Amino acid sequence: MPAAIETSKLTKWYGHHSRGVIDVDLVVEAGQIFGFLGPNGAGKSTTIRLLLDLIRPTSGTARVLGLDVHRDRLAIDRRVSYVPGELSLYGDLTGRQLLTYLGNLQGTVDEAYRDKLVERLELDTSRRVKTLSRGNKQKVGLVAAFMIRPELLILDEPTAGLDPFIQLEFEHLCEEARGEGRTVFISSHQLPEVEHLCDRVGIIREGRLLAVESIATLKERALRKLEIEFGGAVDPAAFAGLPGVQDVVIEKGVLSCTVMGSLDALVKVAARFEVVNLRSIETSLEEIFMAYYGAGDATVVGKEAGHAAA
Ligand SMILES: Nc1ncnc2c1ncn2[C@@H]1O[C@H](COP(=O)(O)OP(=O)(O)OP(=O)(O)O)[C@@H](O)[C@H]1O
Ligand SMILES: [Mg+2]
Repeated sequence: MPAAIETSKLTKWYGHHSRGVIDVDLVVEAGQIFGFLGPNGAGKSTTIRLLLDLIRPTSGTARVLGLDVHRDRLAIDRRVSYVPGELSLYGDLTGRQLLTYLGNLQGTVDEAYRDKLVERLELDTSRRVKTLSRGNKQKVGLVAAFMIRPELLILDEPTAGLDPFIQLEFEHLCEEARGEGRTVFISSHQLPEVEHLCDRVGIIREGRLLAVESIATLKERALRKLEIEFGGAVDPAAFAGLPGVQDVVIEKGVLSCTVMGSLDALVKVAARFEVVNLRSIETSLEEIFMAYYGAGDATVVGKEAGHAAA
């Protein structure tokens, strides 16, 4: 099966000076929920517009569902749903009219499924779209996107503006789509919003893709602060040079350190002594993520990121 999305050295300059994205090599396997994360102006929407052939690249290529985004655009359009960040909809229509119209454009729509989506997202389809709040407009876009059961959903910041309950329902929809082998590509600024939903995330900053990782790998890379309280004397030398273990301080029978990755080596050495208590404080994924985001000083993670992107 071809990748749902595959780009090679995808680059977009808007004019000579405005950087869109640079040399983006991205592969999103089919059947995944993929989070595309980056701060404002990073290049998320630019990448998405390139994937949809709404803009043309300066250089590089993009394929969607194994097809060339430009040459095979019509074929792709029938198999992909896109919800842009800022929806401009036909505002004078009611939600129901608009969904019917969009459904007709696509051919046949499973009306029972569409109505179920409307109900689950608590969308009032009797109101004219232009009178809807931002979040409710977003729901119209989401119903329209999901109702055709596309092979690939490309959603530009879909959760912005949704209240927590609807956000949860949206996540269920994504998981159901994945369960049916479909692919969901979601952009976001906020890792916590998508970390429990996504299988993998790509992190983009200043137009460059820094890393693509599984959430599990990101978590493994998390630094942990560890404190071990001992009942008797310990030999500090025993704790020197353990893999991934840094900043070891032993004071008043309490060892504190930071550990990256597995705790195994440390715990095995500690077990030679009498352990009274053990406390582990995990760095949040958000902190790892901010290290990718942070300007210039993406220390530990930044180095790894360069490696991962290579
Ligand atoms: N039409 C345009 N003309 C000129 N520059 C543009 C245009 N669209 C985007 N850019 C520039 O491209 C860069 C990437 O913008 P893009 O909209 O892709 O970012 P984004 O990651 O989607 O940000 P946000 O989170 O704010 O939506 C920015 O520096 C932006 O100024
Ligand atoms: Mg954007």
